Amino acid sequence: MKLCQTVAELAAALAEVDQAGKTVGFIPTMGALHDGHLSLLRRAQQDGHFTVVSVFVNPLQFGEQDDFDNYPRTIGVDARLLTDAGADVLFAPSAAEIYPAGKQLREPSPGDLGEKFEGTYRPGHFAGMLKVVSRLFDLVNPDAAYFGDKDAQQAALVQQMVRQQIAAGEREPLKIVVCPTLREPSGLALSSRNRRLSEQELAVARQIYPALQAGAALAPDVAAVVSAARAAMPSEARLDYLELVDPLSFEKLDHIPEHGARLIVAAWVGKVRLIDNLLIGG
Ligand code: PAF
Repeated sequence: MKLCQTVAELAAALAEVDQAGKTVGFIPTMGALHDGHLSLLRRAQQDGHFTVVSVFVNPLQFGEQDDFDNYPRTIGVDARLLTDAGADVLFAPSAAEIYPAGKQLREPSPGDLGEKFEGTYRPGHFAGMLKVVSRLFDLVNPDAAYFGDKDAQQAALVQQMVRQQIAAGEREPLKIVVCPTLREPSGLALSSRNRRLSEQELAVARQIYPALQAGAALAPDVAAVVSAARAAMPSEARLDYLELVDPLSFEKLDHIPEHGARLIVAAWVGKVRLIDNLLIGG
């Protein structure tokens, strides 16, 4: 695996790939890698791509409460995991490489979709996320990019941004591949934030997904789904939201459409904010 820390090093590595006529599969991450990230890499490898993984903790997508400073940074371990998993390039740039002083970068708008749920609770988060993803896409110019379904609203926003940029002639065709959430046997979705949970908090977090399942069992009665899932949530978890929404628009639903519905949740367990979702029908 080649480690690139600058835009110039990345461009040199990608020029060789281009000459060899290979396609590029890209996995953007903020590091603290776990098997969920590695499953995205495995999928890109199965799809036959030369693989580029980025590790960049993007300051623009953290709010005051979000704790940018405490976000886990484990670049040495990440590099070892990626080498063992057979990644081709690790792009681990500094903030100055991503946001060079004086360079005007695109600022994709999250639009209405970005106002809902995560957008309400984390103002500015999606604008910062789209800015860095767009910048990384410009630098890597991938044929396909891989995202996890746990961050379903993020994946929907990236898809919306790419559709708009392609339609405006600002970007080459690029496939966004959304991969299933990886879970521990308890059902807890793998997340870099889990490592900040104490044993007691982990026990609480492990009750979140079963609560979603308890709600989903009552489909298609939308009111029953939502109230049963809320009732089954552990009392120690502080809910930001738990709703049944359209999987594309994230509008709240009063019935389950043919393309299915997503039961989405964001909850604080201690000082850690966790999100998860479960697709019903579709
Ligand atoms: O999901 C993440 O880890 C981040 O939001 C992403 C897509 C790497 C952008 O910083």
